[in-house]
Amino acid sequence: MAMVCLLDFEAYAEKYLPKIAWDFFAAGADECSTRDENILAYKRIRFRPRMLRDVSMLDTRTKILGTEISFPVGIAPTGFHQLAWPDGEKSTARAAKAMGTCYIASTYSTCSLEEIAAAAPGGFRWFQLYIHRNRAVSRQLVQQAEALGFQGLVLTADLPYTGKRRNDVRNGFRLPPHMKLKNLEGAFEGDDRSEYGLPPNSLDPSVTWDDIYWLRSLTHLPIVIKGILTKEDAELAVRHGVQGIIVSNHGGRQLDGAPATIDALVEVVEAVRDRVEVYLDGGIRKGSDVLKALALGAKCVFIGRPALWGLAYKGEEGLQDVLRILRDEFRLSMALAGCASISEIGQDLVQFSKL
Ligand code: FNR
Repeated sequence: MAMVCLLDFEAYAEKYLPKIAWDFFAAGADECSTRDENILAYKRIRFRPRMLRDVSMLDTRTKILGTEISFPVGIAPTGFHQLAWPDGEKSTARAAKAMGTCYIASTYSTCSLEEIAAAAPGGFRWFQLYIHRNRAVSRQLVQQAEALGFQGLVLTADLPYTGKRRNDVRNGFRLPPHMKLKNLEGAFEGDDRSEYGLPPNSLDPSVTWDDIYWLRSLTHLPIVIKGILTKEDAELAVRHGVQGIIVSNHGGRQLDGAPATIDALVEVVEAVRDRVEVYLDGGIRKGSDVLKALALGAKCVFIGRPALWGLAYKGEEGLQDVLRILRDEFRLSMALAGCASISEIGQDLVQFSKL
């Protein structure tokens, strides 16, 4: 099977993964309208490409929070990589390092933070945190991530409770017994692991903006907040001293009816006025999607499901293939739009009036 675009990896994953794993990766909340809208919204945006601008030399490099990445696509935090490939997050870490980009490791990894760090020494990684009711567990994870050389802390803000994903309910989704949430082993008492491998109600739904100050007191790492969709929350995020914002609706897995992230990006970027970096995830499936997101003000985007499809295809190698295809498509889109480097990508590249 020739793997030409990211959808080929999706088709492969759907065909070969066990149904319960495929359904978990694919899931959106309720009717999946936000999940699907994340993708459809890109199709409504058109370019204003420029011609005759010497695109013989193309440079896709950029920096996020001061660290260079080879192109503006990183790996969003997703849980349970061993459902896709036996080496799990270790393969993800190696692929991200090989491709010169950033990997955000999830709290809900099936490899421990130590294993991830050891798999790809020197790789550029951030750690994604869910705050648990047992704050000691969260504190310890943050401090461990910093000690292991993770370079950023990503607080996911859109999951006070888990959205209702119908197929997971139908399938009675559980982690297979041989897989563990390695970062949380021994953190909870009792055997009931009925909520995605965790005891019910282990997350803390009482988290507020003030908890950013709590996180600040625990770590020197830059703090990035993930799951912001409005100008009001963007302003609050800046005021509470975060260094970055990821515009995200959790791949449409939380509030069904939330906007497509590419649509929400515009108001967040306007509100932030360059005070902190703004990133985006959700629905990135082609290089031209990346170009649209950058034109509308994202510094970098992250992929969730496509990374899992790459892992399902061939582990580290498959994920590298996914990243390489996306990089090459992005580079070509830049060239065809008349941009030789990232700094030439601006708002006038898209037909703003039609958004
Ligand atoms: C996620 N996402 C997620 N986010 C997070 O902060 N922590 C996590 O553990 C997870 N886990 C997770 C598992 C799976 C299977 C999916 C599909 C998603 C959300 C993720 O970071 C990201 O926001 C979306 O996946 C982006 O959308 P796309 O690229 O999948 O369309």
